Amino acid sequence: MPEFPTTSSAPSRRAVLGLAGSTAVLSACAADGAPTTGSTGGTAPVDAGSVGDLPVGSAVKVDQDGVQAVVSRPDAETVVAFSPVCPHQGCMVAPQEELYVCPCHSSQFDLTTGEVLSGPAETGLEPYPASVAGGRILLG
Ligand code: FES
Repeated sequence: MPEFPTTSSAPSRRAVLGLAGSTAVLSACAADGAPTTGSTGGTAPVDAGSVGDLPVGSAVKVDQDGVQAVVSRPDAETVVAFSPVCPHQGCMVAPQEELYVCPCHSSQFDLTTGEVLSGPAETGLEPYPASVAGGRILLG
């Protein structure tokens, strides 16, 4: 079973992580943080792995089956997700410590609300549909 990073893990550990065995892969955006194709996903929710593998207070980036999202678990019962597309100029944010951070111009966003904490972005991350069913994280 893959191990999720905690918010205190080094960012490099978040670069590529398996969420649900070999079929789910979390990946970072382009190495330079350049914009990649943002996605709102398909019509059917994507199983992004076991909620038990996402420790409370941590976050991961999901890039699976056409869904790109950043997902955090603020408490034992809740999973929240956001589009990873930075509202400033479209780079892809990533979890870093207790924030989502944009690699292009260093905007920072709250891990559980997506609100912008520091610019140059002026607005927060767009919420992405997320739920938990049967112990699985469903996106979309
Ligand atoms: Fe994210 Fe500029 S594109 S801060």
